[in-house]
Amino acid sequence: MRAAVVTVPGQLPAYAEHPDPVREEGRTLVEVSAAAITPLDQLCASGTSYFGTPATPYVPGVQGVGVVRSSGTWPEGTRVWFATDAGMKPGDGSMAELCAVVDDDLVPLPDGVDAAQAAALGLSAVAAWMSLTARARLRPGERVLVLGGGGVVGQVALRAARLLGASRVVAAARSRGALERSRAAGADEVVPLAADDDVAGLAARFESALGGHADVVVDPLCGLPASAAGLVLGEGGRLVNLGSSAGPTATFDSATLRSRSASVLGYTNNALTKDQRRDALTAVLTHAADGALGGRARRSSPRRDPAGVGGPARRRGEGGAEAVAPAHPAGLASPGEGEGGHPAPR
Ligand SMILES: NC(=O)c1ccc[n+]([C@@H]2O[C@H](COP(=O)([O-])OP(=O)(O)OC[C@H]3O[C@@H](n4cnc5c(N)ncnc54)[C@H](OP(=O)(O)O)[C@@H]3O)[C@@H](O)[C@H]2O)c1
Repeated sequence: MRAAVVTVPGQLPAYAEHPDPVREEGRTLVEVSAAAITPLDQLCASGTSYFGTPATPYVPGVQGVGVVRSSGTWPEGTRVWFATDAGMKPGDGSMAELCAVVDDDLVPLPDGVDAAQAAALGLSAVAAWMSLTARARLRPGERVLVLGGGGVVGQVALRAARLLGASRVVAAARSRGALERSRAAGADEVVPLAADDDVAGLAARFESALGGHADVVVDPLCGLPASAAGLVLGEGGRLVNLGSSAGPTATFDSATLRSRSASVLGYTNNALTKDQRRDALTAVLTHAADGALGGRARRSSPRRDPAGVGGPARRRGEGGAEAVAPAHPAGLASPGEGEGGHPAPR
């Protein structure tokens, strides 16, 4: 089969021949339709992750979408989302024509959701959704601040907050593209982040954009933006940290936290059971199919462009993650294919 193959960690993968996976007992063979390039894929392929240097050659891709070709568990032809351990444990992942997946790592796709959109949303959308629902327990009428609003987590959090009844949704984002994606995802106001921000000044801009304090902060950034967001938490406010794109540490003011009984919480998808992951994924993909959640995946072909994993940071999608589709006849690999046919839902 053809696949994106990492031979040397830290170097660009090649679009190359790779042995077909063998379906062992307890696994399902999936014909891959689309796979997202996520920060976890890039971290693993870089060879610097806490999982260690992956054995090579290997096919990256910790999640994907496809159709069941053969299985002892799932009917042939079932459209599925799936997870793999590629890069974290020996074995191949989703960026190939075929993938052998542990049976209970498959989730049937709800009707009406596009393959590339489902791949782009995937676990990033699950993290945004669960941060707002299970962790922050967002209530209708609350004010939400989403840091990193232009990322996949951020865009889904903005849309989900609206869907869950937030009264005001404010984003903070860095680049021009991220600012635009935040607006397209429905932010009432977008606060630009700059390299020379100071904590107090940024907190004042957050408060002004929110029109008061934040009830919930979704924080995939940590660093200085999280320090500033901590200062605007209101009475009973909850800040949920789920990443550290802007820095590994943030500072929280004791007087603010205790005077407002505010909470700083952590979130990781890794703590979900497979049942919880399936339920959350089904929820977000059903909302995506309804047009309430999820944006548009930028599609690229590994034949033309196999370098998104492990290479220089180049993975921004328009309103979603970048989805790679294998260049087999059933793939979604034409330039721009489907973008017109699947407009970004608001
Ligand atoms: N805990 C979990 O279970 C979980 C699950 C999924 C993701 N995550 C984490 O959440 C984070 C976001 O994931 P994602 O999929 O949304 O990634 P993504 O699509 O690559 O988005 C990252 C966003 O962060 C912004 N950003 C990066 N560095 C920044 C900085 N120094 N200051 C301000 N903004 C910065 C980027 O802005 P530009 O567009 O301007 O570059 C981009 O919009 C990652 O750290 C990821 O590992 C955690």
